[in-house]
Amino acid sequence: MNLRRYRILFCLAITPLLPHSGRSEETVKVSFQETIRPLLLEKCVHCHNLKTMPDRVSFESSGLAFIRNAAGQGIIVPGKPDESLIVTALETPQIHEKAMPLVGRRPNVDEIALIRRWVAEGADWPPGNAGKIKPRFKAAE
Ligand code: HEC
Repeated sequence: MNLRRYRILFCLAITPLLPHSGRSEETVKVSFQETIRPLLLEKCVHCHNLKTMPDRVSFESSGLAFIRNAAGQGIIVPGKPDESLIVTALETPQIHEKAMPLVGRRPNVDEIALIRRWVAEGADWPPGNAGKIKPRFKAAE
């Protein structure tokens, strides 16, 4: 009886030491609320909103962001990062070079990779209020 109890305790004790801790990071999807929303708020929405650039995509909501541009290119195509301008425009610096002279605000390679992964995983972006992003005009300047 006692031996059995010790065996269970032993198993519980070594569980965190087993080498599967790295795996969970790869299998967890990129979170819209925790990762993508803050990134868009900090680095995109102060330009990409209906007031500032009415003729470009707005990232204020999924309804505004899941569109095709005037040239017919998809901005966010769930599951298809290579067809999504939100990925390719950022990965092709020339496209955004003129647009983003402020170095500090540019998304870095890690952030672009996260956006790519999020699109590849289906671009989960809740509709309605849960997915609204308000530009912070004052803080941006
Ligand atoms: C300083 C302002 C500014 C910021 C910040 C900015 N953009 Fe842009 N973006 C632009 C402008 C201006 C264009 C149009 C560029 C052109 O066509 O020459 C553009 C174009 C785009 C396009 C192509 C849109 C279309 O309608 O064809 C995408 C996609 C895009 N930006 C995504 C982003 C993302 C994602 C971020 C944040 C990581 C971001 N932008 C940050 C100004 C900005």
